[in-house]
Amino acid sequence: MRLLFIILFFSSFTFSAEGDFNCGTIECDNFSADTTDLASLQSGLTTYMNNCYGCHSLKYSRYNRVAKDLKIPIEIYQENLIFDGSKPGELMNISLNEKDAVEWIGAKPPDLTLEARIRKPEWIYTYLRTYYPDASRPYGVNNRVYQNVSMPNVLEDLQLNLSAAEFDKVIYDLTNFLVYVADPSANERKRIGVYVLLFLLLFTSFAYLTYREFKKELK
Ligand code: HEC
Repeated sequence: MRLLFIILFFSSFTFSAEGDFNCGTIECDNFSADTTDLASLQSGLTTYMNNCYGCHSLKYSRYNRVAKDLKIPIEIYQENLIFDGSKPGELMNISLNEKDAVEWIGAKPPDLTLEARIRKPEWIYTYLRTYYPDASRPYGVNNRVYQNVSMPNVLEDLQLNLSAAEFDKVIYDLTNFLVYVADPSANERKRIGVYVLLFLLLFTSFAYLTYREFKKELK
C-alpha cells in the first residue's frame, strides 16, 4: 500500500506545473489550454497559417501530422492551408531567409514550434493582446510584454473589427494551437498515463494479496 501512495504522490507533480509567469513589466493574463478542444485548435491553426506562417515557420512539425491530430481531412487541409505547394508529409518550413527578414523587418522571426514551451502560453496570450500605438516605433506600435518588438501588430485589422471578447477568443485559439504544436503527443501521453496508473493500482493489489499469502505460510 505504501508503494501506491508513493507513486500517487510523485505522479501528482506532473499535473501541478502551474504558477505566475512574468510578462515583461506587466503580469501575464491567465491562460488555461485545452488541447482536446479540436474546434479551438482548428481555428487557431487557420489563424496561424493565414497571419503568422509567412514569417514564422513550425519546422519541427509536419503538415500531415497536424492534419491528423486535428482531424482535418488531408485534401481539405492541402487545398486551404498549404499555400506554397508543399507536400503533406513535409516539415512546415517557410521560404523567408534570415538576411531578407533582417533587411525587411529588422529582426529574424523565430520558429514557433516550441514557443509555448520556451515562453509559456500565458506569455504568448498576453503578448498578442497588448500592442499599443507608439509613433516612435517603425510600425507605429509597441508592445507591453515585449518592449520595442520588431514584429508589427499583424492582427490589428481583426482587433479593430471584432469585439474585445471575440478577439480574445481568436488569440485563445491561436495560443491553444501553439500549445498543441509544442507537444503534439501530450493528449496521447495523458491517456496512456491513466492506463499505466490503473495498471500499477491493479498490480499493487495483486502483489499485496500474494504478500499476504506468503505471510500466512510463514506463520
Ligand atoms: C511580418 C512578419 C511577422 C508576422 C506576419 C508575424 N510575426 Fe511574430 N515576430 C516577427 C519578428 C521579426 C519577431 C521578432 C521580434 C524581435 O526580435 O524584436 C517576432 C516575434 C514573435 C514572438 C516572440 C518570439 C520570442 O520568443 O521572442 C511571438 C510569440 C510571435 N512573433 C508570434 C506571432 C504570431 C502568433 C503571429 C501571427 C498572428 C506572428 N507572430 C506574425 C515577425 C512576424
